[in-house]
Amino acid sequence: MKEDRDQDEKVKISVFIATSLDGFIARKNGEIDWLMDADNSGGEEDYGYKEFFGSVDCLVMGRNTMEKVLSFGEWPYEEKRVVILSRALTELPQQIKERAELYSGPVADLIKKLEQEACHSLYIDGGKTIQSFLKCSLINEIILTRIPILLGEGIPLFGKLQKDLHLKHIHTKEFQSGFVQSTYEVVLQ
Ligand SMILES: NC(=O)c1ccc[n+]([C@@H]2O[C@H](COP(=O)([O-])OP(=O)(O)OC[C@H]3O[C@@H](n4cnc5c(N)ncnc54)[C@H](OP(=O)(O)O)[C@@H]3O)[C@@H](O)[C@H]2O)c1
Repeated sequence: MKEDRDQDEKVKISVFIATSLDGFIARKNGEIDWLMDADNSGGEEDYGYKEFFGSVDCLVMGRNTMEKVLSFGEWPYEEKRVVILSRALTELPQQIKERAELYSGPVADLIKKLEQEACHSLYIDGGKTIQSFLKCSLINEIILTRIPILLGEGIPLFGKLQKDLHLKHIHTKEFQSGFVQSTYEVVLQ
């Protein structure tokens, strides 16, 4: 199967993620304390996450992000189909064996499979994971929340691409916390 995606395919593939102003999704050791600490809304503001999450059929996540989520003790995606990407794992951790699926093949094949299984809206999470989808031009929408902090180093959201990806800015929203959330459509060429 070719890796690039035909424009007429119907599934919508979105990224909803927060970065430091210098483009990191986590510290080098995976910590996201800076992200939690920056939200001064006392949990009142969810930055559109609930509405976004409610709109997707399936969450596709990298192994590192899965491990981070599990370290918080609860699996917060009970009602949602979740696919974990990993080439290293042969099985999922006990806690989520019945709650998620493990996948290690080409991401373009995964999209075909999910599409055939009536998934119309996908949420892609984790830096390396997002990069592997971007490399194949498999992302349609990026909702990026920039946190007013510079980390200097960390795990980057973006990486190498095989070709430029053009984005169309849809809108930008500013929050009281100083978070700035921009929505972009990826212009598939
Ligand atoms: N700021 C935010 O909003 C936000 C959001 C999500 C995550 N995070 C943080 O970001 C960190 C994780 O990001 P990350 O970039 O390290 O990793 P990631 O994308 O979560 O996970 C990377 C792993 O996923 C697997 N993988 C990725 N692409 C694959 C592919 N195409 N095929 C097969 N397997 C694939 C590989 O697992 P194997 O090594 O097992 O093969 C790879 O090592 C965590 O610290 C998390 O807390 C932050």
